[in-house]
Amino acid sequence: MSDTGPAVELSEAEQQVDLPEIGDTTRYDALMQTIRNRVTVRKFDAGYMVPDEHYDMILEAARHAPSGANAQPWQYIVVRDQKIKDRITEYFVAEQRFRAKAKMKFPTPDYRGLATAPGFVVVCSDMRWVNAFPVFNDGSEQDRMYRENAERILLQSVAASTMSAHLAAAALGYNVWWVTAIGQEDAQKAMRPLLDIPDEISVLDILLFGPAAAKPYKRYRKPLDEIAHFDRYNRDHFMSDDELDDWIRNRRHKVMYKDATRVD
Ligand SMILES: Cc1cc2nc3c(=O)[nH]c(=O)nc-3n(C[C@H](O)[C@H](O)[C@H](O)COP(=O)(O)O)c2cc1C
Repeated sequence: MSDTGPAVELSEAEQQVDLPEIGDTTRYDALMQTIRNRVTVRKFDAGYMVPDEHYDMILEAARHAPSGANAQPWQYIVVRDQKIKDRITEYFVAEQRFRAKAKMKFPTPDYRGLATAPGFVVVCSDMRWVNAFPVFNDGSEQDRMYRENAERILLQSVAASTMSAHLAAAALGYNVWWVTAIGQEDAQKAMRPLLDIPDEISVLDILLFGPAAAKPYKRYRKPLDEIAHFDRYNRDHFMSDDELDDWIRNRRHKVMYKDATRVD
């Protein structure tokens, strides 16, 4: 070992961890720039071709996410065939029409924009991974509670990975769109045959990315002091049922579809 070498031989796994000095903000600043500029658009420049290496770069970020029991319960299907994109879009447009007819009052977006996304990645998971988390597997009431929790662990794990992918796409300069299919049985039935997805696998989300069709804008964010608590839950931030209802009735559509300056 040379004099300038490490005092202790590091294992390969240890060498793979390379954090900055605590308090050095260089990487934090770069990360925050990406985080702040990750904004949703719901229509893309359909003429753009995503270079193959960008899919790898984005999914490489997804691969490094944390997960319950390190199960890494995610699978990503890159869809490049426009006909398949169109068929998936048809399902979501039908869902949009259904919601309008059913008077759900949710301001469902215009899903026709799905077909315009140059980057189109279907996010899947195998729900059998819940068995990798603390469960009894004996059909008891206790088991039911633990399974519910295990399902959340699975969904949170896939969301953590999906978020890494979204940030990687934003870091490469793309606008993104997170479309969810969680729990929608019809979505599973519509998409599985199109992508040859086994019955055991569920489609959870679609990650869309590309250059925006129109100028993207930043949406409203709650100020930091409204969400941060120190040492105890600050009841000033607690919303009554009426306040929450009011937000849903009067602010939800604004925070979803207007820029931050137009949310009162
Ligand atoms: C878990 C999750 C599910 C979402 N599902 C949908 C969806 O189904 N359809 C949609 O148009 N946007 C969906 N979005 C995008 C949000 O509407 C969007 O992130 C939010 O309005 C904030 O806008 P921003 O991404 O520009 O900051 C989802 C986002 C998340 C994190």
